[in-house]
Amino acid sequence: PKTIKIGLCGFGTVGQGVWQHLERARTDLEARLGVKLELARAAVRDLKRARDVAIPADKITGDALSIANDPSLAIVCELIGGTTLAREVTLAALKRGAIVVSANKALLCDHGAELFETARKHGGQLLFEASVAGGIPIIKALREGLVANRFTQIYGILNGTCNYILTRMVQEGAPYATILADAKRLGYAEADESLDVDGWDTAHKASVLAFLAHGVWIKTDKMIVEGIAKITQADLKHAAALGYGIKLLAVITRDFAANQLFVRVHPTLIPEERVLASVNGVFNGVSVTGDVVGTTTYIGRGAGRDATASAVISDIVDAAAILATGKAVPSIPGSSSYASSQPPSL
Ligand code: HSE
Repeated sequence: PKTIKIGLCGFGTVGQGVWQHLERARTDLEARLGVKLELARAAVRDLKRARDVAIPADKITGDALSIANDPSLAIVCELIGGTTLAREVTLAALKRGAIVVSANKALLCDHGAELFETARKHGGQLLFEASVAGGIPIIKALREGLVANRFTQIYGILNGTCNYILTRMVQEGAPYATILADAKRLGYAEADESLDVDGWDTAHKASVLAFLAHGVWIKTDKMIVEGIAKITQADLKHAAALGYGIKLLAVITRDFAANQLFVRVHPTLIPEERVLASVNGVFNGVSVTGDVVGTTTYIGRGAGRDATASAVISDIVDAAAILATGKAVPSIPGSSSYASSQPPSL
């Protein structure tokens, strides 16, 4: 059978998880796909650093762009983070028609329009299941399972770090700084933790969901964004006494009659009998209301090495299936699919 070669750009927490779990599942996945999968190369930032997952020295490079530009690699995973080198790598791989698998919500929010246009122009593809809600297959849900629907409302807990912090503040009364340090140690938090606690990471993910649901890229300057930094133990106690939990939510509301779209991120009081109020720790929860199906709700681990690797591997398998059969997953929204309606105003 044909061999499909995969390159990983970025070999930190998520990259190592992908390598480990893909190696473990490889034989089974190959049997299901009818192709061989080869983890051919990985780019790291620091060649000297010791890692949990050992890979042969001849497969490691310090140059991520050399992976993006390597024509033998049909699938390139961008797991670098940030929006500078990550953007260059993604554009370079898309320009040679590769399939790029990205977990990078900030990159999608800031440059999604450019990336998808580049993919379209050069015959590349960009898959991004791991960019939102970690291990919950919410991208697939919106793009495939719920494709018949128009989405009036999507709301959810999209940042594992913030939910982990709020949960431990409630359950243990532990100080914010201690819990944040744990979230970093456990590999939940972004390298720049203000992306988590100030709400920006949730906003980036809201932007990706809004794009899938409504076909427009909303940047964070068009959203209300407030994080959890000002939430105190007293706030949480008062809320609990009144029968509420406090969660950091992303809320995406579409008013079809007025043709308006609202995207906001802020701490929200949730009545404790609601499902999302009991989504705790690093878990995320997303509730999607479609005009055909009604409301569906998804809960699962929202951050961390294994949950994110699970989502990246699902994209690698989709990519391999596309390469093996030529069949694409349902297209992302584009001008044609929205031709019948005006893009919403903000
Ligand atoms: N820092 C992110 C979070 C990682 O805590 O949710 C997953 O996107």
